[in-house]
Amino acid sequence: MRHFLKETDFSYTEAAAVFESARKIKQFRGRMSSDALAGKTWALLFAKSSTRTRVSFEVGLSELGAHVLYLDQKSTQLGRGETIDDTARVLSRYVHGLVIRTYGHEIVEEFAKYATCPVVNALTDFLHPCQIYTDAFTLAERWAQPGQPLIESLRGKKLAFIGDSANNMANSWILGGALFGMKIALAGPKGFAPGKEIVAQLAKDGLENNFLYTEDPLEAAADADVLYTDVWVSMGQEAEEKQRLEEFRPYCVDSRLMAAAKKDALFLHCLPAHLGMEVTREVYESPASIVFDQAENRLHVQKAIVSALV
Ligand code: CP
Ligand code: NVA
Repeated sequence: MRHFLKETDFSYTEAAAVFESARKIKQFRGRMSSDALAGKTWALLFAKSSTRTRVSFEVGLSELGAHVLYLDQKSTQLGRGETIDDTARVLSRYVHGLVIRTYGHEIVEEFAKYATCPVVNALTDFLHPCQIYTDAFTLAERWAQPGQPLIESLRGKKLAFIGDSANNMANSWILGGALFGMKIALAGPKGFAPGKEIVAQLAKDGLENNFLYTEDPLEAAADADVLYTDVWVSMGQEAEEKQRLEEFRPYCVDSRLMAAAKKDALFLHCLPAHLGMEVTREVYESPASIVFDQAENRLHVQKAIVSALV
């Protein structure tokens, strides 16, 4: 059974095929119906809020022909203490795939251990792999030469991640960047450097340590091909909000940081965005910002990911 819990659950060659398939899906959307999942039911089991992930999966799975169930975790028996292994074994008797958004990464791993259908990680505290595949695809769409496989255009490119360098998006960029052959420079305040878990994951996957971390956002942004940021307070960290907003203030992506990057550098944000905090309105609304292409591509790339699993 194939699952997609982390970036490296697909090999480089498989990731290359996902990107090419997403390109075709995007090109033919609306003109080509698919019955890849006809007669199948997929469930989304979410313990956290979502706009993009929920809607892009619901729409994408329906476009592949599946019936889709959205389960708010609180209203299931999981919310009252039923175990993950029982939930996974029971849901597997009804549905053909599970898309899960939750807190601890070990929760999706436990689901994958007991489920007899594919499990897709729709964000944990540790990783957000569907987002990173989409982001990389969005960049490759811009960078690939005609006829060049999309994934090859990523090799050697520098992505600067400004903000919480210990969060799920930072971790996912470290892991995804290593898989795609990119250089990742992260900048964030002391105490928010990449943790030992992501370094251990790279080693486990046999990937080289491709990242550098600094407290200086200008150093990270220097000569970057793309600047990336994310919220300063991730879901589940609400109690730390006051302190975080204070500490992250010097890490706003503004025109000064963009000017330190390459002349044609792009700006990405997984969204939701907080203008005036992690990014200025000026940068967010500038031609360098391709955040809505990025959001749209969730749909196409996730359809390609699911198709690769089934
Ligand atoms: N980027 C992202 O995952 O957005 P949602 O939280 O709205 O799903
Ligand atoms: N780091 C953010 C990502 C949201 C898509 C969070 O976990 O809330």
